[in-house]
Amino acid sequence: NFPERAHLIEVGPRDGLQNEKNLIPTENKLQFINALKEAGFNEMEITSFVSPKWVPQMADAEEIVRFGSAAGRSIVLTPNEKGLQKALDNDCRAVAFFVGASNTFNQKNINRTTEESMNSLLPLLAKTKDRGLFIRACISTSFYCPYEGKIEEEPVLEICRQFADAGVDDLSVADTIGMAHPQEVYSLFSRLKQEFPETLITAHFHDTRGLGLANVLAALQAGVDRFDTSAGGLGGCPFAPGASGNVATEDVLYMLQEMKIETGISLEKVLKAVNSIEPFLNKAISSKQYTLWKAQ
Ligand code: HMG
Ligand code: MG
Repeated sequence: NFPERAHLIEVGPRDGLQNEKNLIPTENKLQFINALKEAGFNEMEITSFVSPKWVPQMADAEEIVRFGSAAGRSIVLTPNEKGLQKALDNDCRAVAFFVGASNTFNQKNINRTTEESMNSLLPLLAKTKDRGLFIRACISTSFYCPYEGKIEEEPVLEICRQFADAGVDDLSVADTIGMAHPQEVYSLFSRLKQEFPETLITAHFHDTRGLGLANVLAALQAGVDRFDTSAGGLGGCPFAPGASGNVATEDVLYMLQEMKIETGISLEKVLKAVNSIEPFLNKAISSKQYTLWKAQ
């Protein structure tokens, strides 16, 4: 038994573009965001307020939040107090904090141990809630870490407990390097759905080994109805070696449509959005639906 509706959170402008080596003009990122908004996305991660020394592609975050938005909730990633302050100064209404379940990955990604990150993030959550913002917490390397290997369920659940107790609205649990298989996905997401009935649970998959869609299906079976997906299958974390793109929005959308699971998103318009950004990337987009669409 599958849900009648599923909710896709488009992460292409953030997770997708952060891993692109050549700097994409702000104007073209805004066109991409706008095309995705036209396709019907109510929730979108549009950029991140991170150090431009660490991720130069996101250096134009202030302009992006000023001129770009989703049809509903526009989310910006914030790693620390400075990022949160920028989000508040720019009137953002939704932020995503992020932490790695793997200590080594967290150090490579945000230069702190997982514990240091949690200790500094928890007070920020209270401040963010006081201001009435929507808060998502992204938990990276929830299945495997490029440095530490297999990550057990319990430490991931413990991080989720701390976030849920602090009142986050959404837990986005990620297979950062695309190594999880459907049984692991079913197991962890079943536990998450059971333990956090009051919190939104989102599954975030990368398709490194071609298991993205299978993992979406396994998460659906575990009762998950929210998925982070990236138009064109762009994406990856610059500090997670071996990670490739997110599961492609258009491929997930096609599967859901065929299964009669409603999303409210136009597949045709997503493909047009992908087409609009492709010339600014130094690679061809190879998602199944985009390849078929281009060939027709
Ligand atoms: P640090 O070097 O320890 O930070 O980096 P610091 O506090 O010592 O500051 C260093 C410099 O950065 C200073 O500037 C700060 O002002 C500046 P300087 O004095 O040298 O000129 N700075 C900032 N600038 C802008 N915005 C900020 C900010 N904070 C400090 N928020 C830091 C720590 C967290 C800043 C750094 O490690 C960083 O920016 N990391 C971001 C890494 C990143 O963006 N990774 C990708 C996103 S996570 C992801 O993709 C996974 C996800 O998709 C889920 C999944 O798939 O797993 C979400
Ligand atoms: Mg990601």
